[in-house]
Amino acid sequence: MTEPTNGTFDPRRYWEDRLQAHPDITGVGYLGRSPAFIEVQYRSRMRRIEKALRRLGLSDLTGRAVLDAGSGIGIWLDFWHRHHATTVAGLDFAEASVNRLRERFPGDVIVQADLTASALPLPPSARYDLISAFDVLLHIVTPEGFVQAIANLASRSAPGGWLVVSDAIVAGTRYAPPYPPADYQRVRTLADYREALEANGFEIVSLDPATVFLSTPLEGSSRITFESLRFWWRASGAWANFNLPSRVLGPPTIALDQMACNLMRGERAPGAKLLFARHAR
Ligand SMILES: C[S@@+](CC[C@H](N)C(=O)[O-])C[C@H]1O[C@@H](n2cnc3c(N)ncnc32)[C@H](O)[C@@H]1O
Repeated sequence: MTEPTNGTFDPRRYWEDRLQAHPDITGVGYLGRSPAFIEVQYRSRMRRIEKALRRLGLSDLTGRAVLDAGSGIGIWLDFWHRHHATTVAGLDFAEASVNRLRERFPGDVIVQADLTASALPLPPSARYDLISAFDVLLHIVTPEGFVQAIANLASRSAPGGWLVVSDAIVAGTRYAPPYPPADYQRVRTLADYREALEANGFEIVSLDPATVFLSTPLEGSSRITFESLRFWWRASGAWANFNLPSRVLGPPTIALDQMACNLMRGERAPGAKLLFARHAR
């Protein structure tokens, strides 16, 4: 599926069509890359998230309620079940997603809802100890929609609850060329996040690299670093667009990606970031 380019972009229609046509990992993954490579991307990011969860004492979610916002095909619902969350809820605005998730996770509350609406149609008293939004907030393309989505998630956070975001966030302290806005996504700065989160009672607790080598770079410690990473990312398409080479080269690339992430603080990470925030109220 190619990127939409005309000026009348309707996000819901876009995701409805995309998830209808691709009910598998390509429906939610990086456009143009092979399913095997997208799996490699998810595996590497899961390791980063698991590492951060361990550090924050959140590996075992027994007794806790989790909401996954923008659930897509349910990869993270599965993940939170594996981490023993007692209650798992999922939310997406695409009917194609919600219908399949209800079949696949009959014991979970799955709601069809737009994160940018004035309120979320979840059970009235439901509050969540952990809310995840993975590769979702970048697809909210208006500034007002973004702020409303954070406000909606904050309103569903339990006191002291966590918000975990994996997204295209630019820390912006070094070389960060303007990222051309596509119709269906927006790259935001850490300052945009901090402002919206703090206005809604969240405090950022940690920022980590979500990946270094397994997605497009957004910034770099210098122009040369940025251009080298961009060259690597573009060149990697020569194997990552195909399943077989992705299966062979995926595992060593994951190892390399993990090493690079281990060596880097979040503020200096060139690509997508993993952000943990905690609700004070
Ligand atoms: C790139 S996919 C990510 C899916 C899933 N979080 C994952 O990482 O596998 C983005 C998902 O967010 C959903 N989404 C985008 N904007 C949304 C909104 N405003 N409200 C609810 N869901 C939204 C889309 O329907 C899609 O399922």
